[in-house]
Amino acid sequence: MDLLGDWKRTHHCGELRADHIGQDVTLMGWVLRRRDHGGVIFIDLRDREGITQVVFEPEINPETHAHAHRLRAEYCIAIKGKVRRRPEGMENPKIPTGEIEVEAYDLRILNTSKTPPFPLDEEVEVSEVHRLRYRYLDLRRPHMMEALRFRHQVARAARHFLEQAGFIEVETPFLTKSTPEGARDYLVPSRLYPGKFYALPQSPQLFKQILMVAGFDRYYQIVRCFRDEDLRADRQPEFTQLDLEMSFVTEKDVMDLLEALVCQVFKETLGLELERPFPVLTYQEALEKYGTDRPDLRFGLELKTLTPIFEKTKFRVFADVVKKGGLIKGLCVPGDFSRKELDDLTAFANELGAKGLAWIKVKENNELQSPIVKFFGEEEIQGLLETLSPSPGSTIFFVADRPEVVNEVLSELRVELARRLKLIPEGEFKFCWVVDFPLVEWDEDEGRFVAMHHPFTSPKEEDLDLLEEAPEKVRSRAYDLVLNGIEVGGGSIRIHRPDIQERVFKLLKISPEEAREKFGFLLEALEYGAPPHGGFAFGFDRLVMLMLGRRSIREVIAFPKTQRAQCLLTGAPAPVSMTQLTELHLLPGWEIEKEKKS
Ligand code: AMO
Ligand code: AMP
Repeated sequence: MDLLGDWKRTHHCGELRADHIGQDVTLMGWVLRRRDHGGVIFIDLRDREGITQVVFEPEINPETHAHAHRLRAEYCIAIKGKVRRRPEGMENPKIPTGEIEVEAYDLRILNTSKTPPFPLDEEVEVSEVHRLRYRYLDLRRPHMMEALRFRHQVARAARHFLEQAGFIEVETPFLTKSTPEGARDYLVPSRLYPGKFYALPQSPQLFKQILMVAGFDRYYQIVRCFRDEDLRADRQPEFTQLDLEMSFVTEKDVMDLLEALVCQVFKETLGLELERPFPVLTYQEALEKYGTDRPDLRFGLELKTLTPIFEKTKFRVFADVVKKGGLIKGLCVPGDFSRKELDDLTAFANELGAKGLAWIKVKENNELQSPIVKFFGEEEIQGLLETLSPSPGSTIFFVADRPEVVNEVLSELRVELARRLKLIPEGEFKFCWVVDFPLVEWDEDEGRFVAMHHPFTSPKEEDLDLLEEAPEKVRSRAYDLVLNGIEVGGGSIRIHRPDIQERVFKLLKISPEEAREKFGFLLEALEYGAPPHGGFAFGFDRLVMLMLGRRSIREVIAFPKTQRAQCLLTGAPAPVSMTQLTELHLLPGWEIEKEKKS
């Protein structure tokens, strides 16, 4: 009675329409809701594709009707019945099957279910801890089903494009050597080689370069990457890249191809035509105007540098900063703020490291209101008004500090203000490229220059002479793709000449021995006629998250980890047995003896 037996599903639960009225059908799925209406039992039957209303009436089959009394939420069932039009006034225009219902004459309960720990109806807010713990139930909810199906469609559209563009999908190893993307590695101890470890790849960077040396010409892969770093809403310890590499190309070739890829994917999956070409900002411009190398271009509110205006200011706070070679920047936003709001914003700025947040209100009559204007000279005020051209009713914010602090604080404040003032249009996608990154940046902790992208990124030909004398001035051939203020991907033209690679290693204080030990295989490969090559990797989870307008990449990953890098479903990371540890040479042999005795 309760088995599938010879029953075959004829339709899925999102399929039946008025055209099917009168047909006998067999449906299978889960009980979303059960309602009893004076002897008639209604079931909303759900599967991957949708919901169909099933009706059990005593007149149709008393036995089946009696059986239907047993049904509870999330029971897995099969029904046979006849499609009929819903009585007038009972149609549900909200669902595609809303015109019809199925009068069931047979029912098989394929499996019962415990009462779910949370209702699977869409409307209900459930804590993320619960959702991750019972992910198999959470994934039944249309919200998640939609996200993962969409993710699949994006991957399919990308594959489709890359296939047509002549790319070959090649898999690269997970058990490999440490790669240089700059995060901490996840390590896997070797059983056969005591004290040695594999590293899980932070990206397939070195392998894809080697594929270019091998003549593959165009490679891609949708691939998992592993990085043991501090997590945020858009960071997971394992995440997916849409990774690619091309030979005989310049940055323009790669960027053109990527734009075409993005546009086709948006068109195929969202039906949206994006505007091309995407705007290109240099790193300097991005920093100057937005305080960050991942600007959100959905709204204006550009930052303005004001340091020159305050060269001789009497306002102590600004004068001190000018004296120390610091930076003063401001931004002007349409809108007035209450005392409390200004205090909140100041606290927000303080949290990000600012020592204060100065402000000036421009009243409707153009009068300036602020505790600090009294310190400003006529020329300073004139300079401010010219640079910021504030309209009446706006507010100007200033931060003065070291350049890094000013940019960090004002870039975040810019987004926060846009949010508060509702200046961010919903459903808009604003891409931009950021190029001309510095090749290296000074790392205070390590006391050396480190690669801004990775050590295989090519310097610009015209900056090569500066490599030894003024390394901080050397620009790289890297390009980042930014969408709505989030870095969705990055790449570069690589170094393909061993002599330049050597000079870069030297600059990064990577000794020839260290270079040989860490990436000798790549350096060696470059010596065998490596073609000029370059590539890119999308943060695939981020791209899908943004396309769907979700807040976190956990919303588009089937089995994500928490912010604390735990899998609540499986309980990973988890302890392992002494035997395993000993086999992996992580514990001395006597531990095994101890375990045997206990
Ligand atoms: P990069 O390190 O910039 O480049 O990584 C590429 C993109 O991957 C995404 N990303 C992440 N997404 C989720 N969780 C994380 N922890 C995480 N870290 C990075 C970002 C980022 O832009 N090998 C180079 C690419 C190349 O040069 O071709 C690389 O990995 O969206
Ligand atoms: P103070 O003289 O420290 O009371 O500061 C006067 C005003 O300048 C206050 O509104 C502070 O928030 C603001 N302020 C102080 N330090 C800075 C700074 N580094 N950048 C911008 N504004 C500041």
